[in-house]
Amino acid sequence: MNEIVVFGSINIDFSIEVDRVPKIGETINGTNLKVSYGGKGNNQAFAANKLGGKVTLIGAVGDDLYGKEIINHLKENNVDTDYIYVDKEMSTGQAFITREKGNNSIIVYKGANDKLLANQLIKLLSNRTVTGDYFVTQFENNLDEIYSAIKLAKSNNMITILNPSPFQQIDNEIFKYVDYLILNEIELEMITGINDFDKAVDKIKHLGCKNIILTLGKDGSICFVDDKKISIKPYKISSVDSTGAGDTYLGAFVYSLSIGKDIVDSANFASAASALKCLKVGAQSGMPSYEEVIEFINKY
Ligand code: RIB
Repeated sequence: MNEIVVFGSINIDFSIEVDRVPKIGETINGTNLKVSYGGKGNNQAFAANKLGGKVTLIGAVGDDLYGKEIINHLKENNVDTDYIYVDKEMSTGQAFITREKGNNSIIVYKGANDKLLANQLIKLLSNRTVTGDYFVTQFENNLDEIYSAIKLAKSNNMITILNPSPFQQIDNEIFKYVDYLILNEIELEMITGINDFDKAVDKIKHLGCKNIILTLGKDGSICFVDDKKISIKPYKISSVDSTGAGDTYLGAFVYSLSIGKDIVDSANFASAASALKCLKVGAQSGMPSYEEVIEFINKY
């Protein structure tokens, strides 16, 4: 099994349930407050780890109680935290989440996440061989540092996976360093400026990324590999909280690749894992084990 290195954000999530989001100037009551571990990088690392992957998380937290708690929690779960930078000035990132009928909206305070440098990856590379290992990143840290880390990972023979979420305008030059691009339909349209899946995907392929997975929420996903376009069926469930569903997809996808499965099998496995996550409140609470995903696929 190849190892998985996630370069990404770490947050503490404050999540509250509402009947509807308040209007400007209005105050409403929420229920079921949940404070839990989050951040896209942290969630993706945790999802891959829970399934059985050997995972290192490269990230940044503040020198505060939340940062310490998150690192301890990761250590207890055997995620390698040696390359998590602790910043003395900024606080640990925080996310404020409202859950409305199983869906969510999020406001993120990036805090220490903005201080994450590609230098943390250089430290890891100076300590171990990474050829054939997987490198996963998203867009919740400083963009220039993310680009440098992707290029470094690629030049050290890692297999690179980019999840450009939350959307930021991307430098087209980066696609040639990306082996797998996993994004949703809104991100695809915003990145390419094209409102047609096939044409938008073609544009990205021409820019150098050959494997693209388009996630479509309750409609499943589509794998664009070589000249093929393969639809992956959705696993329909009644969602109580979709927070972290995309991150579970990423973690499960890379875990499945790391145990030797192909892109289509991995997308199907990831689809099932992310559906299971939606049955529980909190980004990481519902993340399934390998056995749970297999049982769910077999019974579905
Ligand atoms: O993708 C879900 C995550 O986005 C949450 O855990 C929150 O921290 C934000 O980063």
